[in-house]
Amino acid sequence: MKAVLASHNKHKIAELQRLLSVYIPGIEILSLADVGLEGEIVEDGKTFGENALIKANFAARSGLIGIGDDSGLCVYALDGAPGVYSARYAGENANDKANNEKLLEALKGEPNREAKFVCTVACVFPDGSDPIVVEGETEGEILCVPRGESGFGYDPLFWFDFDGKTFAEMSEDEKNAVSHRGKAIKKLAAALAQRLGNENNSTENK
Ligand code: IMP
Repeated sequence: MKAVLASHNKHKIAELQRLLSVYIPGIEILSLADVGLEGEIVEDGKTFGENALIKANFAARSGLIGIGDDSGLCVYALDGAPGVYSARYAGENANDKANNEKLLEALKGEPNREAKFVCTVACVFPDGSDPIVVEGETEGEILCVPRGESGFGYDPLFWFDFDGKTFAEMSEDEKNAVSHRGKAIKKLAAALAQRLGNENNSTENK
């Protein structure tokens, strides 16, 4: 069983491979480069779900199962911003530092610092059957000053009260256990295992 993740990021491929293998032994996750899919994916969806499906459909051009994910930070006092624009909040080629600075500026004097990370993962099948779309969310608060050196993006500002740490103060395993992405991938794994299991059963029963 092979599936293509709409990414060139080796770290993301390895992470998905590791988490999906627990539920679907023998599954092989390939990158876009592995299947010769070139070109930029235009992520112009208005929601995480739309973007995840755009990416999954792109990966499914390979003829294999296509998987796409989209994630970001939603801050309640900012009406859900930066949301789907999380990567380019401070401008088209903005880096993490600029995005974090813009977020702190936008929340200056704001008492409500509640926020959530959201990750949506979509899985598209070559036979055109209904896609699987799952979502993971993790609630937290935006600090006034960054803390921690690990992770990426908004991790140093995202305070996860339950562990009493920011995401940037957690190990990779600690973060995976509670993160939006970890939750979404576990949901995908369970749904995909069930779909593939049912498929096998229905073929065996014929
Ligand atoms: P992507 O869809 O996973 O590429 O995430 C888009 C953007 O959302 C990233 O560039 C980050 O700015 C932000 N983001 C998503 N997930 C995380 C996370 O786990 N930690 C910090 N920032 C994140």
